[in-house]
Amino acid sequence: MTVITNIEDLRVLAKKRVPRMFYDYADSGSWTESTYRANESDFQRIKLRQRVAVNMENRSTATTMVGVDVQMPVAIAPTGLTGMQHADGEILAAKAAEAFGIPFTLSTMSICSIEDIAAQTRAPFWFQLYVMRDRDFIERLIDRAKAARCGALMLTLDLQILGQRHKDLKNGLSAPPKLTLPNILNMMTKPRWCLGMLGTSRRQFGNIVGHVKGVGDMGSLSEWTAKQFDPQLNWGDVEWIKKRWGGKLILKGIQDVEDARLAADSGADALIVSNHGGRQLDGAQSSIEALPAIVAAVGSRIEVHMDGGIRSGQDVLKAWALGARGTYIGRAFLYGLGALGEEGVNKALQIIHKELDLTMAFCGHTRIGTVDRGILLPGTVPG
Ligand code: GLV
Repeated sequence: MTVITNIEDLRVLAKKRVPRMFYDYADSGSWTESTYRANESDFQRIKLRQRVAVNMENRSTATTMVGVDVQMPVAIAPTGLTGMQHADGEILAAKAAEAFGIPFTLSTMSICSIEDIAAQTRAPFWFQLYVMRDRDFIERLIDRAKAARCGALMLTLDLQILGQRHKDLKNGLSAPPKLTLPNILNMMTKPRWCLGMLGTSRRQFGNIVGHVKGVGDMGSLSEWTAKQFDPQLNWGDVEWIKKRWGGKLILKGIQDVEDARLAADSGADALIVSNHGGRQLDGAQSSIEALPAIVAAVGSRIEVHMDGGIRSGQDVLKAWALGARGTYIGRAFLYGLGALGEEGVNKALQIIHKELDLTMAFCGHTRIGTVDRGILLPGTVPG
């Protein structure tokens, strides 16, 4: 096997090992995928300034995100159907995050449940909440996250309706996958994945199935989302969720300065500049391009985080230099998981950390806390 040295290597291996339906689900954006692509390519346009003859000994990338100690300003993003990239995927990723010393965020749309993660890990994980029409269910979900001692609630604000992802419709995305002839033929080429799935009972949406009356088979994901997610979600809801939860609250999915101001007014602990990995509004600007204006407008009132397009430690450093006090990796960890399970997520985190640490040093810093915009070449920076 080729030696794995970067996130792209993990992506290539994951593509070989994960059934097409689930690989495509992770590795795509909505409509033309222009925002999905811009998230990555806009990072490439920003250039770093190398400094030399600076003492580079004793370096540290450690900091805090919403008051939680982190070994680097990176957390695992909530991603749907993670337990379909690899059997028990959420448990494996949570264990890798715990071992590394960064937060893991569990999606509402996960395969392993809140209780599964709580039983298999010690560090408090974070829980991401989607607001559905059934408010009793949402209240119960919040209470379950509290009972599991989750360290933060991450409320997603940009998915009241679903951006169309062509591949998911063409592949008939569902969990568990329907046993159609094309699916069976494709799965037969992924023996490791099949073996893993045969060895676990977790093959449905663990937070939902069995917890909502009448929800046994969720059918196609896009149809289910359209029926269940609440298109009326508004800032009033943020208030009652904040009150019911009572702990640290992170608002995910902010792109606009006006919304960032409302997020800061809400009293939340952090906001995430995010376009949902280019999966919602195609044609929106990239996250790294949207970041500086939001930091300038509200960075003194609320902790600003970002996600979208991070595939390397260089990307993390650039986001940090532009004011993000935390970043999230979605696809970068999913590729590791699909390729090599828990070991693959460990690898993804080590790869990103090493890139971050060395790049920080090349730019003349030994502490992430001293890094600012000065490491970026003027004229190559958005905003
Ligand atoms: C859900 O969060 C998705 O983007 O599919």
